[in-house]
Amino acid sequence: MNRKYRKTVIAGNWKMNQTASGIKPFMEELKAELPQTKSCDIVLCTPAVMIPAMIRGGKECKVAAGGQDVSKYEKGAYTGEVSADQLADIGAKYCIVGHSERRQYHHEDDMLVNAKAKALLEKGIIPIICVGESLEQREMDLTIEYITYQVKAALYGISAQQLRHCIIAYEPIWAIGTGKTATAQQAQEVCEAIRIVIRKMYGARPARAVSILYGGSMNAKNAAELLAQPDIDGGLIGGASLKPADFAQIVKATTQ
Ligand code: PGA
Repeated sequence: MNRKYRKTVIAGNWKMNQTASGIKPFMEELKAELPQTKSCDIVLCTPAVMIPAMIRGGKECKVAAGGQDVSKYEKGAYTGEVSADQLADIGAKYCIVGHSERRQYHHEDDMLVNAKAKALLEKGIIPIICVGESLEQREMDLTIEYITYQVKAALYGISAQQLRHCIIAYEPIWAIGTGKTATAQQAQEVCEAIRIVIRKMYGARPARAVSILYGGSMNAKNAAELLAQPDIDGGLIGGASLKPADFAQIVKATTQ
């Protein structure tokens, strides 16, 4: 973390878990566990239908609501899709794009991720842009090249002014939901590489100001070590964000 130049963000990704009616009891437990002073921005990304309940329920804990996906289209005949305008209208402040589960199960490519990030920025929603290599790519020593490509593609056509409203999340695919975390060194190496790419694209100041999160089996035990790395400005947390005590523990780790 480097609080001097950028925001620390702890974002939960509930994926297709929980229900709107589960938010109130979740928040009651979270409130009891959270530290008194705010040390980071807290976000919970839920299915779009749960966002209004998250906004209501999250107020006391100062939890902002985020979506997990968005349509690249502005509006029209796209049955089942949710637009950035619709997300903004119900109060979403953030939205994940390019999560590896969307890339894998819904065949989303880098161009689509770029279009979705732009659609969100247009409506004032902060995109949390996910990038990450597969195990094969890591073993072939292609990690940095692949992540560089993903970051460049995702940010294509996004201005320096807009970059100030973007968050990048490095999520090695092999670490997601597997219990296998990247070591703090591995995560730092890639997050630093991401900042270097952004520096080449936008210059030193914007690169210094962009928050880069780590995601992939981050939990109450390993969060402090990961967050102690200079280029890791927070976490995108799946499994552990569903447990209020664990999620609060990760938030607490940002106070160190
Ligand atoms: P995990 O998921 O923390 O359960 O590994 C992270 C993510 O998919 O964002």
